[in-house]
Amino acid sequence: MNKVRKIGIITGGGDCSGLNAVINGITKAAINKYGLEVVGFTKGYHGLISNNHRPLALKTVSGIMHEGGTILKSSNKDNLFNYRTVNQDGSVEYNDVSDEAVKNLKRLGIDALIVIGGDGTLTSARDFYRKGVPVVGVPKTIDNDLPATDVTFGYNTSLETITDALDKIHTTAFSHDRVMVVEVMGRNSGWLALEGGLAGSADVILLPEIPYDINAVVEKVRERDAFGRNFTIIVVSEGAKEQGGEQTIRELVEDSADNVRFGGVGQVITNQLQKLIPEHEVRYTNLAYIQRGGITSQFDRALGLLFGVNAVDLIMNGGAGRMVQLKGRKITSIPLEEVVGSGAVGETSKGGGKTVDPEGQYVQAAKAIGISFGEL
Ligand code: F6P
Repeated sequence: MNKVRKIGIITGGGDCSGLNAVINGITKAAINKYGLEVVGFTKGYHGLISNNHRPLALKTVSGIMHEGGTILKSSNKDNLFNYRTVNQDGSVEYNDVSDEAVKNLKRLGIDALIVIGGDGTLTSARDFYRKGVPVVGVPKTIDNDLPATDVTFGYNTSLETITDALDKIHTTAFSHDRVMVVEVMGRNSGWLALEGGLAGSADVILLPEIPYDINAVVEKVRERDAFGRNFTIIVVSEGAKEQGGEQTIRELVEDSADNVRFGGVGQVITNQLQKLIPEHEVRYTNLAYIQRGGITSQFDRALGLLFGVNAVDLIMNGGAGRMVQLKGRKITSIPLEEVVGSGAVGETSKGGGKTVDPEGQYVQAAKAIGISFGEL
């Protein structure tokens, strides 16, 4: 690789807390340690094709460490290898515009790119690397579903939000003897529901990995009534489904690498339960996007910062084509090819997400303390 003088940053996919800590770490290390110029692209890969970018100076990133979101904005659409354009007559076309993006990088004199994102965003990062662009990846997801890293920033802050919400919901559930259904994010991985539910003392946790039987949930409610605790807290992961049933899909987003959007399974369960336990009022809360924002936790600030600094070190030490990862308490790295699979351009690591093991320690510990997973 030629001498690196200027690097670009992209934040892609759904946002989460900790992104600004990564941007802070990258920019400060790049400038202070290596004397580089830093450019931030706006709205994920869209900025690369629309030439929407700005220089990042020490001042630009000062004071952003604790803030949720991303100062660069993000997009979970805009796959430049299959880019959606709406023509004047309303017809839609998909084209590979990645060569144009590479030309833009060259024109701007950008020698290397740091891409911060989840599965879809990192798949494109790998594809740009295959086209000769020196790219380093930084893993991001609140869902904790990327197998290539023990954990990512954002997840911890989301868990804090879920725990805080469950603490609040407990008191009103108690006052009214209600059954409270609380839906959390996570796509096909139940980690947010499991760890959030454990910390927030849920009575029932419903996961995509363990299809539920509604009668088992009713049984748990009745057990608590008999015990004299006339309220029940049910945490449901958005990807949960009934035994023999389907997941609840809110919408399909055409131009997204991972096009399924979940949402609403909590309402389905609330309706089912209300019929089966008329003696209780059943109420539904979807925590939705509050899980993606807020003041970044200490853990996510530190991890984001370490990922950012290490990503710059990778770029400067011949590590293009790799992604930083957390293994145990150490930051190491792994080839992007291994992170997102080695298939065709645009192929994500479908089916390869990090899911909850129904026989694993967390689920077994939860069962030991009496939490139901909706199994008879
Ligand atoms: O992957 C992160 C995530 O927040 C999921 O937990 C959730 O299902 C999804 O993104 C929501 O995406 P959108 O922002 O497109 O609604």
